[in-house]
Amino acid sequence: MNTRSKEWRSSMRLSVNYNYMMKKFIGEDGFKDADLSAMKEEAANAFSYVDKNRGTGMMGWTELPYNQKEIVEDILATAKEVRRKFKYFVVLGIGGSALGPIAVFNALCHLHYNDLAPSKRRGPKFYVEDNVDPERMQALLDVIEPEKTCFNVITKSGATSETMAQYLIVSDLLNKALGDKASEHIIATTDSAKGNLIKLAKQHGYKTFYIPDGVGGRFSELCPVGLLPAAVLGLDVKLMLAGAAYMDGLCSRPSIAKNPALACAVLQVAAMRRGKNVGVMMPYADSLKLMADWYCQLWAESLGKNVTLDGEPCNVGQTPVKALGVTDQHSQVQLYTEGPFDKVVTFLSVGNYRTEFDIPHGCEDIPDVAFLGGHTMNELIAAENKATAYALAKAGRQNYTIVLPAVNEFTLGQLMFLFELQTAYAGAMLNIDTYNQPGVEAGKQATYALLGKKGYEAKKAELDSAPAEEEKYTV
Ligand code: PA5
Repeated sequence: MNTRSKEWRSSMRLSVNYNYMMKKFIGEDGFKDADLSAMKEEAANAFSYVDKNRGTGMMGWTELPYNQKEIVEDILATAKEVRRKFKYFVVLGIGGSALGPIAVFNALCHLHYNDLAPSKRRGPKFYVEDNVDPERMQALLDVIEPEKTCFNVITKSGATSETMAQYLIVSDLLNKALGDKASEHIIATTDSAKGNLIKLAKQHGYKTFYIPDGVGGRFSELCPVGLLPAAVLGLDVKLMLAGAAYMDGLCSRPSIAKNPALACAVLQVAAMRRGKNVGVMMPYADSLKLMADWYCQLWAESLGKNVTLDGEPCNVGQTPVKALGVTDQHSQVQLYTEGPFDKVVTFLSVGNYRTEFDIPHGCEDIPDVAFLGGHTMNELIAAENKATAYALAKAGRQNYTIVLPAVNEFTLGQLMFLFELQTAYAGAMLNIDTYNQPGVEAGKQATYALLGKKGYEAKKAELDSAPAEEEKYTV
């Protein structure tokens, strides 16, 4: 397989099938062609807005597939060294500084990667620690050897309490164990000028990668935030960027019929306007399970806003929900099929899984079991995916399917760029600031105040003056 050839790349093109969003297939709750035609101009305006602002302000992420040649070489050289020197690679970060590396790891590495023998892995054991649960920190320390571990501390702001607390724990541990050599075990990925991590990196001489200006946390997977961990795992980061560029090319026209990301944005926004306040992301592949997590943050944090760009109150957004096919057919799908008409389901389907697994013949005297024999698990999961989409449509529920011909670096790059563009277009249609997160910042500030950080005295006073909780409301 020549991953550079035009033929291979077009065979790996993602497609979006939205038949089951339409009235013709699902009935009353579906769109008529005319409904989508009516949004043509709005869609074209959203396209122009995104196109005009590419590479400016907080839209630096649009250029990541094209402007990282030198950085990628540095990443590859660093990754090679990490693989040579370390047995464990641990990402410390949260939100946009963690979800991408986790999703890519899950999608492109063996599903039990850390349990494989070293000879069967392309890189060190891999962990992403995106919480400050003390039990989880202890659990990590129980399974790694700090003197054989490289810690990649990732924070755009260089100030996030969770990540900096992890940094303090880890650097203390390394200092005690390794003294002067401790700094060789930390790689910082952060803003080139702002925040505390860059100061610490300079002070201690850590190897540092920069998160470019104009690339916010949730749009940062295709910069060193995601590329370094992926390269350490031996993944082809150039192919991932090529996939993103390919999707960018597929989205270069302002028409819903010719731009998959614009089509997805229009479908979702149109559905939201009809009360579809819940967007379910349901991959039919364990490898894509955590891609749904990454998407949920991107969609929720970007679109959940209370004010328009013109300063008008709005309270928009759609609650993203993650589900897994087929597992959640036995859990959530009952609700999706018969509950309130408030959801759009997006399926992620895979054309060719990396393995084919036969289901052997057996139990011939029990026809209800025997019928499975002779098929493959691949056929079974594909049939269940098709059947669920159909059953939802039959129940009048809007759903559409993004098909990945296979899961690899190229298709993953396409998928992530598709979602990023979809989010940018949807944000433009909703006329909100897609790139800020005042709700997240509010929580960060309250935490600083509660922990007595200097400069947050007024916030602490505000928290202290909140009405005292009453006993009667605790049972
Ligand atoms: O998308 C975002 O901006 C946030 O989710 C951030 O990624 C998250 O809060 C972590 O921030 P930082 O990378 O500054 O530590």
